[in-house]
Amino acid sequence: MSHFSKKEKIIENSGTERGKRSNQFKSRLYSEPRWDPSWKNFRDMEWETFSKLEVAEKIPLFTKNNRLYDCLFAQQFDRELLDRLCRVADKLREITKTSAGDRFVTNLLFDKRAILVFNQPSSRTFLSFQNACHILGMKTSEIRDVSTSSFAKGESPLDSIRTFASYVHLMIMRMKEDGFVEQSAWHLNSKTNRPVPIINAGSGTDQHPTQALLDIYTMTRLLDGGIDGKNIVMVGDLKRGRTVRSLSYLMKNYSDVKITYVSPEEFRVGLDILEFLRKHRINYTETYDFESAIRDADVIYMTRIQDEYDKNGESKKVDYSKYYFKPEHLKIIKPTCIIMHPLPRRDEIDPKVDFDERAVFWRQERNGMWIRAALISYIFNIDHKIMVYKVGV
Ligand code: CP
Repeated sequence: MSHFSKKEKIIENSGTERGKRSNQFKSRLYSEPRWDPSWKNFRDMEWETFSKLEVAEKIPLFTKNNRLYDCLFAQQFDRELLDRLCRVADKLREITKTSAGDRFVTNLLFDKRAILVFNQPSSRTFLSFQNACHILGMKTSEIRDVSTSSFAKGESPLDSIRTFASYVHLMIMRMKEDGFVEQSAWHLNSKTNRPVPIINAGSGTDQHPTQALLDIYTMTRLLDGGIDGKNIVMVGDLKRGRTVRSLSYLMKNYSDVKITYVSPEEFRVGLDILEFLRKHRINYTETYDFESAIRDADVIYMTRIQDEYDKNGESKKVDYSKYYFKPEHLKIIKPTCIIMHPLPRRDEIDPKVDFDERAVFWRQERNGMWIRAALISYIFNIDHKIMVYKVGV
């Protein structure tokens, strides 16, 4: 049993090599707390209560040192941050064109590790996040089939998340269960002493905030004059399409935007989104008339039917063919319009359309890697190093 108090023990040992090392370790721990002081307000709040709060009331638990920590909702982004991330993504592209720049960027997070936990299929989001980590020098591990983890032995989902998080500095999650990514971040930040940032890479029918980020980045790069004042036409299964939901939330950051939602009756956009748009005075209309809607569009954002969320095969009963973009539509849209799609596509866009320069969805998916790298650099507070790097010096 020790006869010294903790403080005395530190003083007593401070002269020895072991003591010095121990003190260095302690000061590292104390100078870089893993939690934000404001999070203590949530320590005693259970998930049932927390989950019912307004998003604005939840955001403090996902913010550290006044910076985005967990990226869970599109509502966490303001215009300043969106513009900054777009600039960081552009700079990353520029820097990594030279081998000196590439080496510089690969050293930025060489001492950090990330895990990708996906229980829903993914090509682009998984690979673009994995490669975004690698661009910054992070090592990655992955769980793509939870039945191969100890979850299958009856471990609770939150214990599994705590275990995955315990080996890494960042967790990137795609989950089919609505709200589970958020619940994981709530759990790590308020109920454990070793939180790591979590990025939502797609959460059930809720949100896909980083898809919305790459959509914004694509529009910012390709629309003359940027997004302000533009007419954005979103088409398809707007009820269950999480990309449309997140993108609609981000529109509050742009002025004089008009959104036109085009969908079959069965898949109209959620009332919560419409209420949000009214609250933020964003101009929107809903229509079933695809051809009329696309004539004045600056952006046509096509989406696929989300039949993985069907309960009784309801998608098969809907005539979706009126919501397909065909080569003849290229003649009626504006010469400056861009055609986007979060992908994967089925029949919503005829592949013959791909050759038109207004079809930008292949560029859009590549933009995802750069904006995700920018986001990770922001979360780890190294984005300023990217911005001040002088190319060619
Ligand atoms: N857009 C998108 O989320 O694509 P994946 O499902 O392929 O990741």
